[in-house]
Amino acid sequence: MDNRPIGIFDSGVGGLTVFKEIRELLPFENLIYFGDTARVPYGNKSSTVVQKYSLEIAKFLEMQNVKMIVIACNTASALALSTLKNEVRIPVIGVIEPGVRAAIKSAKNNSIAVIGTKATINSGAYQNRIKRLRNSLNVIAVPCPLFVPIVEENLMNTKLAEDAMDMYLSDLKKTDVKSVILACTHYPLLKEQISNFFDNKICLVDSAYETAKEVKETLEARRIVTEQETLGKESFFVSDSPETFTNIASKFLNRDIDGKCVSHPWVEY
Ligand code: DGL
Repeated sequence: MDNRPIGIFDSGVGGLTVFKEIRELLPFENLIYFGDTARVPYGNKSSTVVQKYSLEIAKFLEMQNVKMIVIACNTASALALSTLKNEVRIPVIGVIEPGVRAAIKSAKNNSIAVIGTKATINSGAYQNRIKRLRNSLNVIAVPCPLFVPIVEENLMNTKLAEDAMDMYLSDLKKTDVKSVILACTHYPLLKEQISNFFDNKICLVDSAYETAKEVKETLEARRIVTEQETLGKESFFVSDSPETFTNIASKFLNRDIDGKCVSHPWVEY
């Protein structure tokens, strides 16, 4: 039994899609969320930079005495998971492995697509993992860099979002792909529109729920589940603009955040 909180981090607000699933599956756990709002986006940065930022956040979460770290960011999971696993002494989970497992389960034919930020797609992390688990699958990977700002600016369900989809996904629509992995924290907020773009004929895989399941399994396997039987506490930290975070967060969570979001500009720039 272990009542310490679970630390969850992302480059900004997007990781709240993962936070939300963890909260639903593990209502009694205390949760700490860190959003690196001063340095978002990570999706167009180099691996050296994303590793440095991720490590700084992991150290901060360790200082908050967390019992486990969840990298709720696809880009950081793709570029920094092994760095963090080497550098911290508590369990670290990323979103890629759970997302890939869910996608393979849902694959309806021999092709599967991954859409994400430039850094995630260029890292090859998803493609390699899928190939390692099922070599026979044909993987098509497409970066969609404008999707993150579209969500951040609340421009879902607009003509602009439709044009961006046309630009990035038209070629994919002509293939026989039936499953698409939403390999970015922000894309679940575009789910309906992406599904419509593909005439509702494809399965969209979002790793948030699978990641939450893996968190639960890890807590149980390591016997570090909380013994609390009341709703867990929630704390939110950001590296800049807590008010903006608080506003956008309600969109991701479908509710207001519980408590105050604290600005924590400790990170080196
Ligand atoms: N959280 C990032 C991801 O899942 C998207 C936002 C960013 O580029 O930092 O890849």
